Amino acid sequence: MTATGPPDRYALMGHPVSHSWSPFIHGMFARATQQHMQYRLIDVEPDRFRAEAVQFFLAGGSGLNITVPYKHAAAELVNELTPRASEARAVNTIHTSPASELIGDNTDGVGLVIDLEQNLGLPLAGRRVLILGAGGATRGVLGPLLARHPAVLAIANRTVARATELAAEFSWKGPIVVSGFETVEPRAFDIIVNATSASLDGAVPPLAQAAIGPATVCYDMAYAKGDTPFTAWARARGAAASYKGWGMLVEQAAESFLVWRGIRPQTRHVLELLTANGR
Ligand code: ATR
Repeated sequence: MTATGPPDRYALMGHPVSHSWSPFIHGMFARATQQHMQYRLIDVEPDRFRAEAVQFFLAGGSGLNITVPYKHAAAELVNELTPRASEARAVNTIHTSPASELIGDNTDGVGLVIDLEQNLGLPLAGRRVLILGAGGATRGVLGPLLARHPAVLAIANRTVARATELAAEFSWKGPIVVSGFETVEPRAFDIIVNATSASLDGAVPPLAQAAIGPATVCYDMAYAKGDTPFTAWARARGAAASYKGWGMLVEQAAESFLVWRGIRPQTRHVLELLTANGR
C-alpha cells in the first residue's frame, strides 16, 4: 500500500448492524486490492438516519452501505438515483459525485444475478424462474432478473394484489406471471428464489408441490449458519439443490466496492471463508 494520510472512510448504516459481515468482507477486499480505506458499522437509532447519513458525508466520509430498515429512506435522502436504485426504490450504496452530490445506487439485484449465474452456474436466460414474495426484497432484484431474459418470471405472494402491483410496474421490462403460493402454475420451475421475510417467524410459504421438481434449484436470499426454514423445506421436497444468500451478500458488496473504488475485487476466497464450516 503506497497511500499516506488517513484512510478513506466507509460504513454500513442500519439498525441493528452488530451481526453484519460487511466490515470483514470489505476489509478483505481492501487488503486484496491494496485500497487505503476503513469500513465500520454505524447503528443508527430510528429517526436519526437522515441526520447521521448527512453528517457522515459532511465529516468527509467517502461512501455508505445502507441496510434494514433505511434502504427506502436512503432513496429519499440522496440528490440523485441510478436507474437501478430508482426502479428498486431502495438504496444500499451511496457515493459522492465530484460536485459533492450524494448518489444512491442499488447493488442487491446484480449481486443476486452474479451469484446465481457465475458462482452457482445457473444461467437465467430461457429458464423458468419463480420468486416468492412481493415486498422490498423482490422489488430490489426484479429489474436485474428480468434483464437476463428468463423464459418465465413468476411472482407468488401471500397477498396476490401486492404481486400484481409490482408486476404492473415492471411489465415494461419483461413479462411477469402472478399468483398465490398454492395457485402457482403446477409445473416445475428451474429456479425458485425466496424473497419473503417468512423465515423470520420460522415459517415457509405454502407453495404448491408441483412447482418443485427433481431439477429445481432453490435459493434463499436470507443467510444463516446451517439451514434456513426455506432451504430445509426445499431439500425435504426433493429440490436438486438449495442455497442461501451468502453469495448474494458478497457479490453485492463487490459491486458496491466497484462503485466506490473503481475496482471489482475477486470474491471467491471471501465467499469460501464465509461459507466454511457448513454455513
Ligand atoms: P422485505 O423488504 O423483506 O421484502 P416487506 O416489504 O415487508 O419486507 O415484504 C415482506 C414479504 O414477505 C412480503 O411478500 C410478505 O407477504 P405479504 O405481501 O403478503 O405481506 C412476505 N411474508 C412475510 N411473512 C410471511 C409469511 N409468514 N408467509 C408468507 N409470506 C410472508
